[in-house]
Amino acid sequence: MEFKHIPVLLEPVLDGLNIKSDGIYIDCTMGGGGHSSEILKRLSLKGRLIGFDRDDDAVAVCKERFKNNKNVKVVKANFKDAPAILKEMGVQNVDGVLVDLGVSSYQLDNGERGFSYFHEGRLDMRMDRTQDIDAYYVVNNYSKDKLTSILYKYGEESNAKRIVENILLRRAQKPIETTGELKEIIESAFPKKVIFGKGGVSKKTFQAIRIEVNGELSGLEEFIREFVPMLNKGGRMGIISFHSLEDRIVKNAFKELATDCICPPKTPVCICGHKSQVKLVNHKPIIADENELEENSRSSSAKLRIVQKL
Ligand SMILES: C[S@@+](CC[C@H](N)C(=O)[O-])C[C@H]1O[C@@H](n2cnc3c(N)ncnc32)[C@H](O)[C@@H]1O
Ligand SMILES: [Zn+2]
Repeated sequence: MEFKHIPVLLEPVLDGLNIKSDGIYIDCTMGGGGHSSEILKRLSLKGRLIGFDRDDDAVAVCKERFKNNKNVKVVKANFKDAPAILKEMGVQNVDGVLVDLGVSSYQLDNGERGFSYFHEGRLDMRMDRTQDIDAYYVVNNYSKDKLTSILYKYGEESNAKRIVENILLRRAQKPIETTGELKEIIESAFPKKVIFGKGGVSKKTFQAIRIEVNGELSGLEEFIREFVPMLNKGGRMGIISFHSLEDRIVKNAFKELATDCICPPKTPVCICGHKSQVKLVNHKPIIADENELEENSRSSSAKLRIVQKL
């Protein structure tokens, strides 16, 4: 299947990274290389682009796409390990970093990857298909309590209890194998008249299971804290998130890194000694404009936040 993915918020990302032609830039989530290729156009031969993805398909596509660019390196890894990997490569400081979180359209639209209730396939949802835990395992083996809490926490699904009860009833008869089966089980937990609402009733559960399978929220805050010191003065970090849980982590981490004192509000004298490392480039998240929304529905939930190293 062809790797199709339209990069979201492309212009704001390129403006926001304030690209210097001879700088070092890191694309933490290369996907199909959409953002990377535009960053690359703004770099001279002295500039460097190092990209990460944990999906072998994305890595293969980017290696092929950039095979003639000597100043591009594509690495298969979880970007949360990027600070350590970069240091091992001898890269101590960089001028900009982009994280475009979540899944690519290629992953979602490829039934074989088992991510989406729109495409029939074996339940999988792993970005990195070499990892052991997949959606099949989560759906068929997690306890009732664990599944319910994942649906509440990562999907903000208020009907979690009913959905999980139905999952347990079904899997007591036979394993739940496909995206279609899971969709049907989720729908059976809702009254008929709400099933065909906006985005369908499966969206939140599928999102929750995907976040669990890929550990999408864990380590994000730590990554931000670890990476910011690697930015050169004036260097920028841009993060695009696609749901409120991710955005909250990014917003709070950026806010704290941009604040001098983080003592509790009524402390008379500062005892924390905290010093800001960045300034917020935008106070409100940047979202897609009407043109982009019309061309790419995926952009509707995208939020871009950017900080600049002091
Ligand atoms: C939204 S897509 C990126 C699309 C890309 N910016 C483009 O323009 O083509 C997200 C990509 O990030 C990858 N990804 C998500 N979390 C990751 C992680 N923790 N480490 C490495 N790659 C990750 C996914 O495999 C996916 O390919
Ligand atoms: Zn303080």
